[in-house]
Amino acid sequence: MNISGLEGCRVIVCCGSGGVGKTTISAALGLALARNGSKVAVVTIDPARRLASALGLSALGDEPRQVDIGPTGSWGELWALQLDAKATFDRLVQRHAPSADAAERILDNRIYAHLSGAVAGSQEYMAVERLNELTHDLRFDQIVLDTPPAQNALDFLDAPTRITHFIEGKSLRMLLSPGAAAGHLGWKVLHAGSSTVFSILERVTGAQLLRDLGEFLAAFDGMYSGFSERAEAVRTLLHSPRAAFVVVSSADDEPVREAGALVERLTHDRFPIGAAVMNRIRPLPATEPPTREGLMAVLADAGARDPADLADRTLAQLEHDRARALRDHESCARLARLLGGRQPLQVPDFPDEPVEISGLGHVADALSG
Ligand SMILES: Nc1ncnc2c1ncn2[C@@H]1O[C@H](COP(=O)(O)OP(=O)(O)O)[C@@H](O)[C@H]1O
Ligand SMILES: [Mg+2]
Repeated sequence: MNISGLEGCRVIVCCGSGGVGKTTISAALGLALARNGSKVAVVTIDPARRLASALGLSALGDEPRQVDIGPTGSWGELWALQLDAKATFDRLVQRHAPSADAAERILDNRIYAHLSGAVAGSQEYMAVERLNELTHDLRFDQIVLDTPPAQNALDFLDAPTRITHFIEGKSLRMLLSPGAAAGHLGWKVLHAGSSTVFSILERVTGAQLLRDLGEFLAAFDGMYSGFSERAEAVRTLLHSPRAAFVVVSSADDEPVREAGALVERLTHDRFPIGAAVMNRIRPLPATEPPTREGLMAVLADAGARDPADLADRTLAQLEHDRARALRDHESCARLARLLGGRQPLQVPDFPDEPVEISGLGHVADALSG
């Protein structure tokens, strides 16, 4: 496996369990592809500022920001941005509302203000929308998506389906149905629906609620189908050869197990797996460990006070490192078996955090093989 398989992809989705290095790998992959001449946007859905700090930037926002990757020439461009769910939703309304007037009414509406900021999972819904926007943005050849630290690494995959269910399902439908607009909506009905919707609405008082709701529904009229259509477009793209999923894992048991589950799920749902990355591998020692006697003699020569004790502790540490390195290589082999024999890309565990273009460059080199 190498990254050459990713070169023609429009969208690359880095996924894996929390803390394995998804953000680092996303940024480094973006850098590697940019060094190959591509114009790459790395987008993170993680509200924490990990991508910004990995790139050595103070902050990232909704608008792509170009990252200085060194001398220009045959190199492409690296851009980075961080999902802003509310800004994405606002833009969506501005673009797709039936009229400028309707857009303004939606944006000013209190129900909308709560809905756009508070709906559970709105991060993921808007991630799908943002991804859709970026895939139509001609400034970029490739989009690398850094998925959020979801409790379940598979959550993101469900987002396009869930957004459709969300739109078609009880919670929004109830708010958006003509019956609701007519003002037949009682608190009891709201209670029976999604507790999320209820908790949003609870913050708005009765009469105001119904007025806001009526306005909201009227303004939103004609926009619902767009949500489903765009989610479907993203789903289709993610299933196509123009997409590639990159499964990231560390060598620990749990992440490898989760990576295995992810590979199974991606394969089952026919999402294309472009590569797997085994991150933070420790190198196997190139030589045999010294003998205890040999080491003691060297230490005694060097003037150590208690050469036997120091030799024992050194050997214990060497043995510990060797066992970990062996375990890391066994994890690689395990992941390769889960991938039907394809070898994961291996990235070493760097002594210093791989941040800024200099640090990420080492990761990019490892990924490029
Ligand atoms: N190959 C590596 N060598 C050393 N440190 C790494 C490596 N990859 C990631 N890290 C560090 O591990 C931590 C978690 O990485 P991050 O990319 O934020 O993971 P995730 O996005 O999966 O939560 C960060 O401090 C990062 O700098
Ligand atoms: Mg992350």
